[in-house]
Amino acid sequence: MSLEGFEIIRVVPDDEEAIDSLADLETTVLGERADWVEDTQDCLADGWVIEAVMDGDKMVASTFTAVEADRHDDSPTLVRLPADAVHGKGSMVDPNYRGHGLQLALLKRREEIAREHGKQRIISTVRPENAPSLHNFLAAGGVVVHYDREFFGPDPTGDTARLIVVQDLQLPEWTTVQKAVIKGYKDRDNPRKTGDSGSLPPLTLSVAPMYVDRGASGPYSPDASARGYIDLLLREADYVGVSLQRPARDQIYTDEGPRAELVLASLSTLPERIAERLQATKSEIRHILALAR
Ligand SMILES: CC(C)(COP(=O)(O)OP(=O)(O)OC[C@H]1O[C@@H](n2cnc3c(N)ncnc32)[C@H](O)[C@@H]1OP(=O)(O)O)[C@@H](O)C(=O)NCCC(=O)NCCS
Repeated sequence: MSLEGFEIIRVVPDDEEAIDSLADLETTVLGERADWVEDTQDCLADGWVIEAVMDGDKMVASTFTAVEADRHDDSPTLVRLPADAVHGKGSMVDPNYRGHGLQLALLKRREEIAREHGKQRIISTVRPENAPSLHNFLAAGGVVVHYDREFFGPDPTGDTARLIVVQDLQLPEWTTVQKAVIKGYKDRDNPRKTGDSGSLPPLTLSVAPMYVDRGASGPYSPDASARGYIDLLLREADYVGVSLQRPARDQIYTDEGPRAELVLASLSTLPERIAERLQATKSEIRHILALAR
């Protein structure tokens, strides 16, 4: 990942030029809407932090972060955002600038935003089929702690389902453990290597096939059984999602078969401090969701 040639800026309320550029980027990525400028102004007035990547004068990527629980939130579920967390609201990259790691760079910057505001966690949501985004959240040190089938309310098409991802700044040792879990996953078919996961006790891993957004080549293709499995592991069992493993680049957009695998690890096999904190986060998120229903 290289940010060479790009600059990250913060969009502030009186920077009309940046707010207009952001509206152009939103139109490119999300489609035409009359009120993009007004929308941005509302977010800034509510204290959200908006950061953007510039290629010279052109705005090519952005992230929105809500710092406090948001009374205007379009989702009923994170209205009760924990006081020690910021809410990662959205990120986008101009299609002509994808593949440069710009979202990942902005997700890492979010840690600074959280620290600036004295917060310890970043809570975000992502569509289970949005493989590039999910991949980047996990690469930024995120952990999938929950799956909500109806995050934005009931919808028979399943499009309101979201995974809930937490980046916990109080767990700096997490990324080392995450790497060991990924190594354990890669070694799983090699009996000589199984169990050799650094300082971890033997891992209990599970893998869920993910059917992913096929971008320009097709619509979202949610897979009901994969969703059911992820739901079960995250809700009923003490699993967390650790990594999204993809096939070789030229196999990502094939017509059949799983296009990626979500690697889940049982908390009972992770170091105690990490397991306890993630378990507490899982319970807290479940509680927030239950209150909102
Ligand atoms: C999601 C989005 C921001 C990512 O843009 P980006 O920063 O250019 O992403 P990149 O292509 O650099 O990174 C995607 C990563 O996912 C990987 N990936 C892509 N498709 C994948 C798949 N099907 N399975 C697994 N991994 C996949 C890529 O290989 C890459 O990882 P790498 O850098 O280790 O190779 C961009 O696609 C976008 O704007 N989408 C529309 C808006 C959106 O969905 N926003 C996120 C809302 S949560």
